[in-house]
Amino acid sequence: MPAIVLLGAQWGDEGKGKATDLLGSRLDYVVKFNGGNNAGHTVVIGSEKYALHLLPSGILTPGVIPVIGNGVVIDLQVLFHELDGLEARGIDTSRLLVSANAHVIAGYNRTLDKVTERFLGSRKIGTTGRGIGPTYADKMSRVGIRIQDLFDEKILRQKVEGALAGKNHLLVKVYNRRAITVDEVVEELLEHAERLRPMVADTTLILGEALARNEIVLLEGGQATLLDVDHGTYPFVTSSSATAGGACTGAGIPPTAVTRVIAIAKAYITRVGEGPFPTELFDDDGEQLRQIGHEFGTTTGRPRRCGWYDVPIARYAGRVNGVTDLVLTKLDVLSSWEQIPVCVAYDVDGERTTELPMTQTGFHHAKPVYEYLPGWGTDISGARVLTDLPANARAYVDFLEDCSGTRISAIGVGPEREQTVLVHDLLD
Ligand code: IMP
Repeated sequence: MPAIVLLGAQWGDEGKGKATDLLGSRLDYVVKFNGGNNAGHTVVIGSEKYALHLLPSGILTPGVIPVIGNGVVIDLQVLFHELDGLEARGIDTSRLLVSANAHVIAGYNRTLDKVTERFLGSRKIGTTGRGIGPTYADKMSRVGIRIQDLFDEKILRQKVEGALAGKNHLLVKVYNRRAITVDEVVEELLEHAERLRPMVADTTLILGEALARNEIVLLEGGQATLLDVDHGTYPFVTSSSATAGGACTGAGIPPTAVTRVIAIAKAYITRVGEGPFPTELFDDDGEQLRQIGHEFGTTTGRPRRCGWYDVPIARYAGRVNGVTDLVLTKLDVLSSWEQIPVCVAYDVDGERTTELPMTQTGFHHAKPVYEYLPGWGTDISGARVLTDLPANARAYVDFLEDCSGTRISAIGVGPEREQTVLVHDLLD
């Protein structure tokens, strides 16, 4: 069982930590393959709650080697802040490996992220403001700064000079900000270089060798399918590849090594930031989902937009990622509803479809077509096997499984590690 991909099936925040916990100490490596500190995992272990933004969740599992892959963009201040926070709580972080090819988020890209959003006005994306988009833009424009550049000051200076040449024009002439000096950027980037040095590695080589030894490598996606820059609701997406294809690129692992793709979906759906959202609720139901499900961003604290489960999205995620197992999270959040709507299709300008609309306009016009399932009206947080669930909760899960076209292998019934109904082993 070599490489397993783990990713979100919706717009993020589905609760990937739950699945990582289930795989736990059976993993040898956990690789973050995309995104940066725009992500937010909350992992609850006993009475301890850990909010991770940049580090792979494998950092919390003893014996597992956590890896930040080449596809990630790294804010060094955040990296060391998170490491220090975990160390202070007694977590050993010394196994962390960081790809020499990962890109670094420089201060000017955090600034540009914020001012660009401001200038977009009503067309803003609702980014996390962490500099993610501009750093990926630099990568594609080939003016990015990589981790390896921090260990050659001459090269670093040249690269920063090259990047700033264009950016200072933009900052000063377009955005009315002050020019940034090469010295201040170099100083900021070098601040952590020596502490970083022992973690830096040729991670694709290390992972390739691990796979050759038949060790288990988990490729953990940040954000989710509908935030993928190619396959999401563009332009209201993040700037990286959050789907299964991106896992191979962002970790340097061949597609033939991937034997399993596990997607996480909430029993309802949420989104932060702007963009179309067919099942979004603006009424008391939406507010109730937000309150009961604690739907506030881990990274930015923003209230999440909430809506009912969307089958066309689940089927789409299944198709573009080749999903083998679905992990359904937060089923317990729905326990108080008398009936639960599930979106089974869209009405797009009078035409019914079960597929995602091809165009952005179609997606904006999509109205949900609901089927209504009876609720179960009882606390399910103590369920550990399928037969512990009341009949209507099982019927709800069966319905989602049938419609979504992927087997549901685990069901989350509460935030704690053990509050999970395991249906199929995620490794066998
Ligand atoms: P960026 O990734 O900061 O550029 O933001 C782009 C879009 O992705 C915005 O709508 C963000 O709210 C969204 N986004 C980024 N990371 C996450 C995440 O981890 N969960 C949910 N939404 C995210």
